[in-house]
Amino acid sequence: MSDKTIENLMNEAREYDPPQEMLEQANLTAEKYEQACRDAELDPEGFWAERARKLLDWKRDFSTTLESDSEKHEYKWFGGGRLNASENCLDRHLKNGRRNKAALIWQGEPEEDVRVFTYHMLHRKVCRFANVLKKMGVSKGDRVAIYLPMVPELAISMLACARIGAVHSVIFAGFSAVSLQNRIIDCDAKILIAADGVLRGGKKILLKRNVDEALFECPSVEQVIMVKRTGDEIDFIEGRDTWWHEELSASDIEDFCKPESMRSDDPLFILHTSGSTGKAKGIEHTTGGYMTIVAHTAKWVFDLKDDDVHWCTADIGWITGHSYSVYGPLALGATTLLFEGVPTYPRPDRYWEIINRYGVNIFYTTPTAIRALMREGSQWTEKYDLSTLRILGSVGEPINPEVWVWFYEHVGKGKLPVLDTWWQTETGGILISPLPYVGKLKPGSTGKPLPGIKTKIVNNDGSNASTNEGGHLLITEPWPGMLSSIHKDRARYNRTYFERFPGSYETGDGARIDEEGFHWIMGRLDDVINVSGHRLGTTEIESALIAHPDVTEAAVVGIPHEIKGQTVYAYVTLRSGLDQDEEMRMALRDWVGKKIGPIAIPETIQFSEGLPKTRSGKIVRRILRRIAAGEDDLGDTATLSDASVINDLIEGQKILFE
Ligand code: WTA
Repeated sequence: MSDKTIENLMNEAREYDPPQEMLEQANLTAEKYEQACRDAELDPEGFWAERARKLLDWKRDFSTTLESDSEKHEYKWFGGGRLNASENCLDRHLKNGRRNKAALIWQGEPEEDVRVFTYHMLHRKVCRFANVLKKMGVSKGDRVAIYLPMVPELAISMLACARIGAVHSVIFAGFSAVSLQNRIIDCDAKILIAADGVLRGGKKILLKRNVDEALFECPSVEQVIMVKRTGDEIDFIEGRDTWWHEELSASDIEDFCKPESMRSDDPLFILHTSGSTGKAKGIEHTTGGYMTIVAHTAKWVFDLKDDDVHWCTADIGWITGHSYSVYGPLALGATTLLFEGVPTYPRPDRYWEIINRYGVNIFYTTPTAIRALMREGSQWTEKYDLSTLRILGSVGEPINPEVWVWFYEHVGKGKLPVLDTWWQTETGGILISPLPYVGKLKPGSTGKPLPGIKTKIVNNDGSNASTNEGGHLLITEPWPGMLSSIHKDRARYNRTYFERFPGSYETGDGARIDEEGFHWIMGRLDDVINVSGHRLGTTEIESALIAHPDVTEAAVVGIPHEIKGQTVYAYVTLRSGLDQDEEMRMALRDWVGKKIGPIAIPETIQFSEGLPKTRSGKIVRRILRRIAAGEDDLGDTATLSDASVINDLIEGQKILFE
């Protein structure tokens, strides 16, 4: 075995202690953590009520913490309470000494495009835009669709909606006209806020055409407010389209807009999540519960402090951006950084350059981004002083131990906590995660549930799985921030989350819990492979492959097999310049056999240059499964970020089976 191999094997078994010298300054010290666990255990409602009161300003205090109707799967948080999300993110910081602090730093794709908004400036913009919406007839409960790239107007629009009680529905600007249309129709939006175009990787991408195409069949939309970003010539539809900057500077628009007093269970937003199959689900979140979980987790997990610069790299079109670029950090009065571009343009050092330039303290990103940057080599991280960083986070997919260790060593310089945070669009905020300064870190594990969050792993029949046995990950107690419904589809809500395992919330993820209570996410359960009765998580096999020094990316799926039920089919991307031959296949099979066991050895290995991914970077195994099985119908490919990889994959599969 080479040195590199031995080192890899050791890394996987290694555990890391959080930096103890930082414990003193932590929002959550070891002592407070122990106390929180005890409090949440003894009196969960009391625990959440205290967090909600401590972190948010309520216009009227709530009278009940939780009203549950488990028959109807209704969980109402902070009943009787009234608050406004935008007021919590802005107004209160005008009075507590943060008025002139940077609330939002925006870095555009071109290096010179920088805009900084203090709390005062952001408040004013949000108020003015809220007044524009009101002038257009938007009122409490109306839906507003937002189709914008990562520009400050996106956050401003969301907060303006929240201010007047309108429900926002953000649609990722990378989506096609069809996806945009489906989402607008699903929420019957009255207004659409969009941009002329997007800057991406040095190119201009026109958005207005998608808007016009989508609106062809969206009768609910009365007005379109256009943000000028690329400055391209665009067609305006008379009476329907107007410019953001003109509306905002109109003489009748005032600088202040009174925040609407919202009930805790009034909806704050709808966000569609693609789901692995079928129609996108419009996940609904309420005001009080959602604001509580995001403020709470930003405070404890990211340990946000007043002079921190917090950077969550996710697009605001995803829940991660909603919770940890906008609502969480602003609720706490922090400084949030938004970046319009991609990590590799103009060079693969863009993230490190930005961290250095703005003195970023908390850096929260995805395994896909880390893998892509790791492939470019560590010379890029070495170019910059990254010493302001204090906490690193990851979300969205399992982070393979190999990638975790690279992040830890090359970005965290072997000193910073790497937090692998688990949550979903539906959960509103982080539920399972290590804490930065309390308890150890195990690469590949998402740590333990946060205080007040209860999980369990069950088998198909609902019986409890044993320690380290993989099964369905369930959340067994309600938490603030849980979705309130799927928009216009209560039956799907009941069926997807509550009916299969009565009394619990079903996450759809596979996981195991080890002897110390650490959670290991195995991937979506639809992706689990069953070889001769053994359930194999895709993550485990993929991590083994990625740990091989010649591999940069891997995805595995199961294909039907007469005797074994299924066999493992692996798609592997090698480092450039290596031979994609039988010898390499043998070496990889051998490697997986040694790392996990013979049962996990891929029967087939297809070398590929790229993989189908959603626009948030998740590998779409559903499509890979169909390609591997030689099926012609690949299902819905509309939400892929780059559908052009598909043909190469189909060709590659055919060659293997010739
Ligand atoms: C996956 C993103 C492993 C999981 C916030 C979940 C993860 C889905 C992790 C939700 C993690 C998220 N480790 N898997 N740390 N975090 N996932 O709705 O399968 O875009 O169910 O929310 O991402 O994705 P969503």
